[in-house]
Amino acid sequence: MIETSPALTTVPVELGAKAYPVRIGPGALDQLGEEILARGFARGVRVLVVSNPDVDGPYGDRVLRSLERAGFRSERLVLEAGEDQKTLTTVSRIHQAAYDHQLERGSLIVALGGGVVGDMAGFAAATWLRGIAVVQVPTTLLAMVDAAIGGKTGVNHPGGKNLIGAFHQPSLVLVDPSTLTTLPPRELQAGMAEVIKYGVIADAVLFDALERQESLASLEAVGPALLAQILRRSATAKARVVAADEREGSLRAILNYGHTLGHVVETLTGYRRFLHGEAVAIGMVAAGLLSRELGLWSAAEEERQRQLIARAGLPLAAPPLEPDAVRECLLRDKKVRDGRVRFVLPTQIGAVELRDDVPLAMAQAALMQTIPARS
Ligand code: NAD
Ligand code: GLY
Repeated sequence: MIETSPALTTVPVELGAKAYPVRIGPGALDQLGEEILARGFARGVRVLVVSNPDVDGPYGDRVLRSLERAGFRSERLVLEAGEDQKTLTTVSRIHQAAYDHQLERGSLIVALGGGVVGDMAGFAAATWLRGIAVVQVPTTLLAMVDAAIGGKTGVNHPGGKNLIGAFHQPSLVLVDPSTLTTLPPRELQAGMAEVIKYGVIADAVLFDALERQESLASLEAVGPALLAQILRRSATAKARVVAADEREGSLRAILNYGHTLGHVVETLTGYRRFLHGEAVAIGMVAAGLLSRELGLWSAAEEERQRQLIARAGLPLAAPPLEPDAVRECLLRDKKVRDGRVRFVLPTQIGAVELRDDVPLAMAQAALMQTIPARS
């Protein structure tokens, strides 16, 4: 029996034969080797650690040392950073490194980084030798609470984001909150949008805890106790949804709260002006207005969501957009049928409804309503 640290918190992702734990705690990075042994991998197994310079610089050596201490034969591959790297070309580089390092069926890939590294390394693991194990070690808030959990892996296609991919559950997700100390504050805030999302869609206790904090805009303002609660409760919310609906037959779609109108904002601003989480924040504001307009949500709770988003330093308003462009963009959304859009709409803090019957014009109007009037 391999001893693992009791100091780490465990959130189980209950997926039968594919079940795995999310292990969370400061200093977890130095325990990666033992944590992998505890998942049943033998000493001597080959491991490829995939990262980028932003994370390899501060954390790569620690990860490699931990793996070596546990007896793994590890190599690292450091890719360039950035969403524009999330392509099949980069995945081919990971495959080449897997070949060079002689990764076998029992070998594993460790994804050390944000959602971009996690999605690419996960997809490379899903496709190398028809699927080898992957361990996710997320280093952005967004990846810790969302991307690293749930097994969605993939890359972008020139025609759209995440069009190429596979479901491939990790064997372990290891979250070390202290890696967030080097994360730029804007990236932390973008991740906070997904945290607020969990509060609204699934966890009123989390929402209340966030609300009690004066600011959520920096690591210092959040503090270690609330951060620990954020990571545990968000992982629990995601794990519960994924366990109930791994392949997004229905329920998993609630994780897309704020994403439909957020996607319109991202698309119409050419993916340059807003980080994904910032666009999701605007999308949640618009979805909140829409829900209120449809009589599903109270004005008071919609205002609470708006206040919380503001406290995280996130944008509340879309930039000036042409109404026709918004309409066109919504029409191209795969969730539109007969002029009606599929929407995740809050009914109270901690609960949402999936609606298939939202008139496209109302969705368009809700997003336009967030745009400040020109003086
Ligand atoms: P990211 O991976 O691009 O990371 C953001 C930036 O922070 C990058 O420049 C990165 O190099 C840097 N960085 C990462 N960790 C750092 C650290 N600890 N210190 C300093 N710098 C650090 O962005 P992200 O927001 O983590 O992820 C976005 C990606 O995740 C998108 O491609 C999106 O499609 C994907 N995603 C996937 C899922 C899923 O379920 N698979 C869910 C949500 C998002
Ligand atoms: N990020 C949405 C999902 O994992 O389904």
